[in-house]
Amino acid sequence: MTQAREIAAASRLDNVRYAIRDLACVADEVVRQGHKVLPLNVGDPLNFDFETPPHIIEAVYKAMRDGKNGYAPSPGIPEALEAIRGEAARKGITSLRDVFVTTGVSETVDVCLSALVNPGEDVLTPRPDYPLYSAVLCKLGIKLNVYDLDENDGWQPELADIERKLTPHTRGIVLINPNNPTGALCTRQMLEQIAELARRHNLIVFADEIYDKLILDSDFQKNDTPHLAFAAVAPDVPCVTFGGMSKNYLVPGWRIGWGIVSGDAAGVKAYTEGVHRLLRARLCANHPEQYGIRAALEGPQDHLAEVRRKLRSRRDLTQQWCEATPRISCVAPRGAFYAFPRIDIPESDEVFVKELIRQKHVMVVHGSGFGQKPGTQHFRIVFLPDEPTLAKAYAGIAELMRERYGTA
Ligand SMILES: Cc1ncc(COP(=O)(O)O)c(C=O)c1O
Repeated sequence: MTQAREIAAASRLDNVRYAIRDLACVADEVVRQGHKVLPLNVGDPLNFDFETPPHIIEAVYKAMRDGKNGYAPSPGIPEALEAIRGEAARKGITSLRDVFVTTGVSETVDVCLSALVNPGEDVLTPRPDYPLYSAVLCKLGIKLNVYDLDENDGWQPELADIERKLTPHTRGIVLINPNNPTGALCTRQMLEQIAELARRHNLIVFADEIYDKLILDSDFQKNDTPHLAFAAVAPDVPCVTFGGMSKNYLVPGWRIGWGIVSGDAAGVKAYTEGVHRLLRARLCANHPEQYGIRAALEGPQDHLAEVRRKLRSRRDLTQQWCEATPRISCVAPRGAFYAFPRIDIPESDEVFVKELIRQKHVMVVHGSGFGQKPGTQHFRIVFLPDEPTLAKAYAGIAELMRERYGTA
């Protein structure tokens, strides 16, 4: 018998990291020892006290019963596309050119990056980032080109760094707003400045606004500007705005997202055609779930007030704890459900986070899993659990810090 030879994975995957799920191996070890691990690592509201609005489930259930179980049109079903156009208008996007439905924003990211870059070109992505962006770029064999978010400026993009990193081969820039992992919101001035750079350098902007209805900042509420969409601020700039059902409508398992193309019509035409080629090649997004899109976007929005109320209270508790805890400092999150505190410890954040799982059974994600400025250390907290659960988790984190590093 001949010895089976190893089938090697592609070397371009070497840099693909997804620390959020990779930590699960350490957690499995702890679970095998009979402990329960508190998951503050995955941004899934349905792990906690949040429920999908029933009318959205009904719409999908009805679609399945009505036989909407075959393939859907590649760009998405007409009623969903219509509802997304309505949503674009509510977001103040006036230069709408196209909309399409995908299998989660994850697929929007994959399709939009794949339709853009040639070998040797690059796309600016934030550091820290949501790791899917770098994973898709690695998969495409594209060298990463990261720009820093500035912790000293409330985690706004560092414009000077963007200017430094731009090359003649840079084709686009990713803007995550509200941000994962920092919880920051871009200011209008920042959006305008990025638009100006995009105009000057002929870039497309990928505006990931999947958390746009989860704004926790009360000033934004008072002024009745719930979220400032990049495409609304810069109608002429080529842009794809990413949105979806996972977070705002509490159905991450349905895998429904979408892209909204805007900007100068002639400027985005060829690119949009490229996107549609890929959309056709992958057939379609989940069919029955698409019937939840209109129900979600045009139906009652009552759950959102309740979600924001819970998240504000949990954000406040998180922030107070960060301020009261030695070795920790944190820019207060203003949207989404993440905090990204900085920690001052004499070992790597990855070692700290793994010890936290082993010793206190609390799971957060190390800053190095998202990328961070050299010399800094962080971890990301998902503050979705209720207050007593968070308080218990935070007590565990503080205890481990005291035990390992003292209080100085
Ligand atoms: C910033 C950001 N973009 C995209 C996604 C992926 O979302 P989806 O569930 O729609 O694929 C996430 C999920 O956590 C996210 O945080």
